[in-house]
Amino acid sequence: MRLDKYLSNYSGLSRKEAKQAIKLGDVLVDQVPAAGPEQTVSEHQDIRLGGMRIAPRGPRYFMLNKPVGCVCANSDPQHPTVIALFAEEEDVSELHVAGRLDLDTTGLVLVTDDGHWSHRVTSPKHKMPKRYQVTLQDPIADDAAARFAEGILLRNEHKRTRPASLQVNAPQQVELTIYEGKYHQVKRMFAAIGNHVVALHRAAIGPVVLDPQLQPGEYRPLHQEEIERLS
Ligand code: URA
Repeated sequence: MRLDKYLSNYSGLSRKEAKQAIKLGDVLVDQVPAAGPEQTVSEHQDIRLGGMRIAPRGPRYFMLNKPVGCVCANSDPQHPTVIALFAEEEDVSELHVAGRLDLDTTGLVLVTDDGHWSHRVTSPKHKMPKRYQVTLQDPIADDAAARFAEGILLRNEHKRTRPASLQVNAPQQVELTIYEGKYHQVKRMFAAIGNHVVALHRAAIGPVVLDPQLQPGEYRPLHQEEIERLS
């Protein structure tokens, strides 16, 4: 690829600015001042602009602690979006949420610009476990764990939910792990057994647990191991 095109693709400079920087001697290719804008380069070379390495950006993967009141979308006419929380990142419009949460649900949201990866994370085929901490209006029924383990028939559905596991931490404080992601699934499952979800928080997706350091609205890049374990 031509050097001026390479720079305008990966550095944010316009083609004209790239040509100018090359002319001024601000661009080094493998430690040698660039010969000219038409010089052919590849991403395997060390290309520097004002000393900064310029390289194609790889895919990005983040975990976010979603606050209440943010919508899992790239734009919304009414509510702030989780994507707007990534304002410090470049090309924010390329990011998307892998597995949405309701407006009033908090906790772990994965955000990426890698569509293949997010498809693998969210595809029902992969049965990725999602663990939720649930605050209930009424004490949990004695038979709830057994009913969820069997699968529940939700309103307006023909098929039972996949077996889900319930852990009771206190009468109105439970953890539910589900292996699919139907619309409002957790709230509907508790409604189906005559209870009501007062607060809902996603604590984990598969092996990835929400980082306790992240305050609501904060995010961090996923570690390489987390990316791979979700793949
Ligand atoms: N189930 C729900 O009901 N809401 C969520 O946000 C996630 C799972």
